Amino acid sequence: MTSSAAAHGAAPDDPRSTWAAVDAYFAPLVGEDAVLAAARRRAREAGLPAIQVSAAQGRFLQLLALACGARRILEVGTLGGYSTIWLARALAPDDSLVTCEIDPRHAAVARENLASAGLEDRVEVLVAPAADSLRRLVEDGAEAFDLVFVDADKPSNPVYLDLALHLSHPGTLVVVDNTVRGGAVAGPSGDDPDVRGVHGLVDAITADPRLEATALQTVGEKGYDGFVLARVVG
Ligand code: SAH
Ligand code: DHB
Ligand code: MG
Repeated sequence: MTSSAAAHGAAPDDPRSTWAAVDAYFAPLVGEDAVLAAARRRAREAGLPAIQVSAAQGRFLQLLALACGARRILEVGTLGGYSTIWLARALAPDDSLVTCEIDPRHAAVARENLASAGLEDRVEVLVAPAADSLRRLVEDGAEAFDLVFVDADKPSNPVYLDLALHLSHPGTLVVVDNTVRGGAVAGPSGDDPDVRGVHGLVDAITADPRLEATALQTVGEKGYDGFVLARVVG
């Protein structure tokens, strides 16, 4: 994103201004190209919320995919396909990425963006509630995925983890976005269904001997949030 913390209302001495400035400083290293910038623009012009991963985070996901040699990637929560493009660019033409999106308007924008990126050959957008799409993949005996990126409705995180594990092999990496939520995750779940979704996810991972995991707090142009990373032991 090019949007600055100032554009989100941060005063100059607000730490969010520094976080956005640091993302801007690292932009040349991250290397978001014109295709990705156009994907953000198309999504914004179509009225989609600008909640995609930052360029630095997209590049991070791409490097994870490259590091685990991913040839099959599963994404839950497509939006306009911005993170999808970063991830799919880690794949060779014969590899595949399946991404799940409930909103047909979002999926239509994503398909346009993926076509502009020349990635439509290796990306399939499944338009339905993601839990339904994932159950269908399990029932159909889909080949296991090497990397799973979970970034949809947060209350469903425990459901997505469970289904992702049915679509995994030893070594599969599961990455979940928005697991810090400005620090709210360290407080009581209370009435916040998003925080409850993180707590349910973390409890499930902690209790599962098949998983080795960590959580990384992040700051940047999207504010203060983070990722949970879990690897299927093997
Ligand atoms: N991964 C994207 C951002 C995803 S935003 C990126 O970084 O570029 C979350 C998306 O999840 C939204 O497009 C929303 O419509 C979708 N979503 C919400 N609930 C869903 C559900 N039950 N099933 C599938 N997608 C869902
Ligand atoms: C928001 C950010 C996200 O990364 C996401 O997946 C959903 C919502 C947000 O800032 O509201
Ligand atoms: Mg997210």
